[in-house]
Amino acid sequence: MSEDLFAEMTETLFKDKSILSEEHSPDVIVERDDEIDAYRTALKDVLFGRNPSNVFIYGKTGVGKTAVTEYILDALQTEVKRRDAADDLQVHSRNCNDDTVYQTVRSLINSIRDNSREQFPETGLATSHALETLFKEMDRVGETFLFVLDEIDHLDDADTLLYELPRARANGTLVDARVGVIGISNNYTFRSSLSPKVKDTLMEKEIAFSPYDANELRSILSTRAENALAEEAYEESAIRFAAAKAAKDTGSARQAIDLLRESGDIAEEDSDKMIVDTHVQRAAQRVQRGRVENKLRDQTMHGQLILEALAQLEADGQAPARSKAVQQMYEKVTRGWKHNPLTTLKSIQNHLADLTMLGFLERTERNEGRAGGAHYQYELTLDPRTVLETRESIESEP
Ligand SMILES: Nc1ncnc2c1ncn2[C@@H]1O[C@H](COP(=O)(O)OP(=O)(O)O)[C@@H](O)[C@H]1O
Ligand SMILES: [Mg+2]
Repeated sequence: MSEDLFAEMTETLFKDKSILSEEHSPDVIVERDDEIDAYRTALKDVLFGRNPSNVFIYGKTGVGKTAVTEYILDALQTEVKRRDAADDLQVHSRNCNDDTVYQTVRSLINSIRDNSREQFPETGLATSHALETLFKEMDRVGETFLFVLDEIDHLDDADTLLYELPRARANGTLVDARVGVIGISNNYTFRSSLSPKVKDTLMEKEIAFSPYDANELRSILSTRAENALAEEAYEESAIRFAAAKAAKDTGSARQAIDLLRESGDIAEEDSDKMIVDTHVQRAAQRVQRGRVENKLRDQTMHGQLILEALAQLEADGQAPARSKAVQQMYEKVTRGWKHNPLTTLKSIQNHLADLTMLGFLERTERNEGRAGGAHYQYELTLDPRTVLETRESIESEP
């Protein structure tokens, strides 16, 4: 019997769900013509046997930096093979999230060495030694190298690496090989953390990726939906709605795609034949809820209890509220969960100030004239019901 458990399961709404997954690289990039043009110009020297320029790509998460980079470099490699004047080109990419400079360099060395040769040791050697080894490996091959360092803003001390790499040839540490660095960053402020000399070289060519608007997201989503979803499995308006929602929130294509996949999941859970606006609406709520939950869990217990108190005040129609009123509700809530409340008003006010700074609360100043004087009132920026429900589930965990 048990072997038949899955026998009747078929993919209903999804034709190929993997196309909506994080790992999928799209065959076509839409809505990024200007960026692709700038990218192409920045890299064209490779085709003529010259040193590649260094390129710095920045923009918020989900705006196509990685996808466009992969697409461009594929095209570049194809063209290099076609042309005699072009040096042979090797592209090595590394996501630097969680890396030290040593790990990044090590991964580049190993990527050049391929699996056929001994891998560079994981620990025990100095970063400078790793860099020397990298240059030796490059010269051994003697071709042109493009190093793609994605999410480079996560790298501690990116400065050392970004100082050494582009200068290696000028400094004589590299003789035969040529090198260009493509640095990709989710934030622009990373730039100001670098030393002036590094800024000048790495940022020879800068390309900014702006957030997508609703129309752009719609065309990205439509292309995906055509391949990922079965025919007649979705209403066009659901795509438009998902695009509009993601555009209003972050302008991220990743968010838009996630929303569509989640909408499909919800429609399937309900055995519906078609993804429509209400599925998107519910998917957005689910995602939003997950986000609130994560943020809430990141707070200290008392921070959470104060947020819960504010949610309760709002549910009771008593928000915005002064710190004194928050304290009273906080004590009630805290005792209700059998915790010991903080006792001073000052400690509550400190938490309120922190939570305001983190964007959980909105603070307004009220002036009640001579009698009351000026004071602050607080209210929640999150959905109170979600906060109350999430708190409930946190407290009921073992
Ligand atoms: N212009 C585009 N055309 C098609 N798909 C895109 C486009 N921009 C982003 N995507 C898709 O959106 C998701 C996020 O893009 P990604 O390149 O990973 O963003 P970033 O690197 O900027 O965080 C990926 O699935 C990617 O394939
Ligand atoms: Mg990326």
